[in-house]
Amino acid sequence: MTTSLPRQDRIRRALELLRNDTTDKFDEVIAFEPDEFTDPVLATEEREYVFGAVPSIVAHGSELAKANDFMTVQMPRNNIIVVRQKDGSVKAFVNLCRHRGAMLEDREKGRCRIFSCAYHRWSYDPDGSLRTITRDNTFGEVDRKEHGLIELPCEERHGFIWVVDNAKASIDVAAWLGPEMDEILAGYDLDKLVCYRAGGFDEPTNWKIMQDAFLDGYHIQYAHPNTAGKIIHTNVMAFEDFGRHCRFIAPRKSIDRFLEEDPGDTPLDKYVTETHFLLPNSTLLRQPDHFQLLTFRPHPTDPTKSRMEQRLMVPSVEDSPWDAEHWERRWNKNWEILLAVLHNEDFPLLRDSQRGMGSADAGDMMLGRNEIANQVFRREIKNLVATGRAGDQ
Ligand code: FES
Ligand SMILES: [Fe+2]
Repeated sequence: MTTSLPRQDRIRRALELLRNDTTDKFDEVIAFEPDEFTDPVLATEEREYVFGAVPSIVAHGSELAKANDFMTVQMPRNNIIVVRQKDGSVKAFVNLCRHRGAMLEDREKGRCRIFSCAYHRWSYDPDGSLRTITRDNTFGEVDRKEHGLIELPCEERHGFIWVVDNAKASIDVAAWLGPEMDEILAGYDLDKLVCYRAGGFDEPTNWKIMQDAFLDGYHIQYAHPNTAGKIIHTNVMAFEDFGRHCRFIAPRKSIDRFLEEDPGDTPLDKYVTETHFLLPNSTLLRQPDHFQLLTFRPHPTDPTKSRMEQRLMVPSVEDSPWDAEHWERRWNKNWEILLAVLHNEDFPLLRDSQRGMGSADAGDMMLGRNEIANQVFRREIKNLVATGRAGDQ
């Protein structure tokens, strides 16, 4: 496998794979067990050793555009509030009042100057500090500095907001991405785009079954014959493995005009989709004129449930050639098409996979040599869990 050729060369390599009716491959077929998707002990370990240890993306920065904008997120270990600060930075807190544990904020999104608890009306500043104890002449002595909201490690980088879902952890997104992926994401200027829309879907399916389906270039013409299968080639991936993270280029069918003819110096960007897997739980798709981010989070207790989020990052109206109305129509249409494919084609199939994995005699299954990004995902999650187990001994 070749690493880090210039983009046009990587696209030409994908074209060559297509001409030869093949794809990049790993050396081995890998076996796996159905209880990886049902076992509550493994699910606990994944929450602790994966989401409690490494950064994952919770939003695009433009979703919290102004100071005091906040959103709430159910992470695998904590329910959290993410808030834009006055100085432009972003902080994350456990969404819970330090008095008697009421949930501080039940809205998904909003803007507010204070977080005010519905139970006995204590309040907190957006930086997490405890501001008001109601009837404090009767409550008794409290060291307020010790009873602010519990903060989680949070960092904004490459346009995204990343959180480690563990108050005791620290965060260094650049180190986590590694030099290759950090440089790749830096080159995309994702912070200059806006999140056109974000949507979340709670599914009765293990998060790894979900994540796997969105690293899979092998199912397209079979599961999506009349939608994605008409646009993109199946089972052709020019792949690069960066250790934790990986990416691959898949040719669109529009590239077929160059199957016989030599493209010469013609830029081929519009003839491909490039998929990035960001360990532990994100697929970032680079489309010719926008980016699509898919994230997959385990349910906080049930291994057979997860939440998927989809985001479209696009040039703002000002940076686009269109007026606001055309811009809205264009991206709304794109969003609706994506949603229809998810709901009509992927989700029913994946829900049934989960039901199948629950069969007592399901037997073992396998990942092919051609299922390269899935092999990376499985390899790296296993590594994180093994590292966590070793650290706990
Ligand atoms: S639980 Fe929040 S003020 Fe009492
Ligand atoms: Fe699919």
